[in-house]
Order: sequence, then C-alpha cells, then structure tokens
Amino acid sequence: MSNLTKVPNSLEQHWMPFTANRHFKANPRLIVGAKGMYYTTHRGDQVLDGSSGLFCVAAGHGRREIAEAVHEALTELDYAPPFQFGHPVQFELSRRIAALTPGDLNHIFYTNSGSESVDTALKIALAYQRVRGEGQRQRLVGRERSYHGVNFGGLSVAGMVNNKKAFGLGLPGVVHMRHTHLPEHTFTFGQPETGAEIANDLQRLVDLHGADSIAACIVEPIAGSTGVLVPPKGYLKRLREICDQHHIVLIFDEVITAFGRTGEHFGSDAFGVVPDIITMAKALTNGVVPMGAVAVSDRIYDTVTNAVPETAVELFHGYTYSGCPVAAVAALATRDIFAQEQLVERAAKMTPKFLEGLYAFKDLPVVTDIRGYGMLGAMDLAPTEAPGLRGLAVMQQLYDAGLMVKLTGDSVLISPPLVSEDKHLDELFGKLREVLKTQ
Ligand SMILES: Cc1ncc(COP(=O)(O)O)c(C=O)c1O
Repeated sequence: MSNLTKVPNSLEQHWMPFTANRHFKANPRLIVGAKGMYYTTHRGDQVLDGSSGLFCVAAGHGRREIAEAVHEALTELDYAPPFQFGHPVQFELSRRIAALTPGDLNHIFYTNSGSESVDTALKIALAYQRVRGEGQRQRLVGRERSYHGVNFGGLSVAGMVNNKKAFGLGLPGVVHMRHTHLPEHTFTFGQPETGAEIANDLQRLVDLHGADSIAACIVEPIAGSTGVLVPPKGYLKRLREICDQHHIVLIFDEVITAFGRTGEHFGSDAFGVVPDIITMAKALTNGVVPMGAVAVSDRIYDTVTNAVPETAVELFHGYTYSGCPVAAVAALATRDIFAQEQLVERAAKMTPKFLEGLYAFKDLPVVTDIRGYGMLGAMDLAPTEAPGLRGLAVMQQLYDAGLMVKLTGDSVLISPPLVSEDKHLDELFGKLREVLKTQ
C-alpha cells in the first residue's frame, strides 16, 4: 500500500486550507486515487470530477505522458537555479506559451501559483510605470466580487469579503470598480447584452483620483471563483479603451480562463480584447506540479529590460522555483497533450451540450440563478438559515452520490475536464439533479 492510499491515524496535525477543519475531520473526504474522469475515495467509491480538481486538471487525471516527463526530469535534472542560470525546457516552454498568447504578449515569467502570478503581474505593472518616468502611479484598480488569490497584492485588489476581512487593510491606494452582475442578468445565457457601461467606473476613478496616480487595472475576464460572472458584451473592450487613453496597464487574470476553458486558448481570445499582461496557472501543468506564469507585452518587457545597463538586473523579483525543471517539463507535456488531442477545439465543441445541461436546471425552485460560458458554469442555490450552509450540505451529498464539484458559499461551480465525453456530462448533470431536486 503506498503512502497515498494509507489512511492516517490522526488528521489533527494538518491545518487544511479553505476548509471547515473540524467539520471535515469529523467526516473526512479523502481522495486516494485518480484516473481519467474519476477519483477513488478512501472508502473505495468512484467520484466523477465535475470541477477539474480546482479548475486545473483539464486533460483528465493520471496522464502517463506527464508522469513520464516528470520522472525523466527528476532523474536527469532535478533542479537548476532560476536566477542568473537557466535550463533549456523553460525557454522552450516560454516559446510554446508565447505562440498561444494573444497580441504581442510574448514574454513569460514563471511563478508557482495563481496567487504568485497575480502579485508578479501587479509588481511588473508598477515597475513598468516607474521606468517610464511615472513612478507616482501607485494606485491599483480591482473589482468587487473578484478573486485574485490569497497573497497580499491579490487580496488587496480582490473583492470577496470573507477572503479579506480577517487580514488587515491590504495595500494602500487600492480602489475597486463595481462587479458586472446586474439583477436583470439572472438566468442570462452566456454574455449579458446590458451592463457594458459599468466599465466607466474606471473612468470615474480616473476622474476622482487622477490618471497619473493609477498604475494598473486588474480583472478576471470571467470572474470565476465568485460564481462565474460572465462579462457583459462590450465591457472588456470599454475597459481597454479607458486604459489606452490613460496609460493604465490592463491585466487579465486568466488563472481559470487560460488554456481552453472558454473554448479558446485565452479569455482574451474569446472576448476579442488584448490586455497588456495575462496571468495564468491552472491547467498549465494539468494540476500535476504547482506552476504559474505571467505573459507580458513586448512594450512592457522592452521598456523594463532596456531601462538598465546590460549587466544590471532589471526586475528584482522571482521565486526559488520559478520555472523549475519538473514543473516546466510537466507543462510542456501538458501542452503536447493539448495540441495532440485538440483540447481547446474539443472544449468549443462540447460547450453547447454543457451549457444546455447547465441551464436545464432553471426548472428547480432551489436554483435562483445560472451563469455559464464555455466549459465553465455556476448555479446559485437559495440559502438556508445561514449563507453557505446549504452549499456545504449539497457538496457532501453530491460527493456521497459520486460527484465532486466546487462550492463557493451557496454557488455550485462546474468546470469538467476538457476531455469530458457526452456520457460524463450526462452523469454529471444526472447526479446533480438527483441531489438538487431533494432540496
Ligand atoms: C482568477 C484567479 N486568480 C488567482 C487564483 C489563485 O490561484 P492559486 O490558488 O493557484 O494561488 C485563482 C484561484 O482560483 C483564480 O481563480
């Protein structure tokens, strides 16, 4: 029996992240195996993965190609320092990612997570403004109901109260735009027709604080963790216009939407708007090894690197494990799978069936709203005595019924692997209905 399948005698010592620890430890949900579309639990049950892990296992579980690449890296090159030294795979991976990223976002900086990608992007934006002589631009603009990870930069620009309220005031000078989900958008299929003018909140912040105080504006093209808020038509384009007009760096946080989730390589492609910086992480290594990345435009890269003598470090930022060999080979193997199996095209083909299955839940009284785009969807459930209680109970009932999805409060988030077949979507929505109709 491997260490992965042996159930430990005590669960007490491990403090689990984003988990109700006492509740979990009283009735643990331990995963001991995963293959294809299914997990195996410590009780021996099969559970369908309806959320690609946490949006990251896009190519399905247990991919041999990735395991072999990782094994080879561990035996041939376990580690190489990323500061002042490199190894070939990270350069090749950057070339491959830059070939996919939109516009001139041709320079890739590695991190270990989405949170680190966000903080890296914010720091690059600030450094860029400084070297172009606008160091007074220190304000960062975020948005209500956004999730940008849990580090202090991302937390400051984010807009989910429970993630913020225990942890102080965040970075100074951060301001927020309104979120885009209007009451009239309830049960809207895909992109709402109304609400583009909410982007003018950025102009209002410019009018209030002065453009010359604002370094960057960060948004998720689709706000994912807060419950899949799809941008109104024209909204992102308007943000782009305002940023162009006032030299504000536009950052798209594509930690969820990068690599096919929308049926295009990036959310930027899906909505036809090219930002200056894109953050990514999930689906980069298919969830196998922690890795994030930040894609930066030629203009920003050239401006920052050319600002110092050739022998000087231009950006005092990086991580011990930035682009480490094992993550880079896992990412490269994942890119190969994406290309060979045409996963992005597959996601686009599967989307109509996915969205049809999702919106069919409109008939259940417990479902108060549905939102979806590409292979990403959410439904809100009517809360019970306290917010989140129903969500927690439903998650447990679904798990017992053989389905794993992500719950944020009382919102069910659904994002199956891009290798899903019709039968998996039928099973997913079938199990979901079995549980939701009893609510
Ligand atoms: C848009 C977005 N940004 C950042 C993050 C943080 O990523 P990580 O958990 O890898 O730090 C997430 C995670 O869900 C995310 O959805």
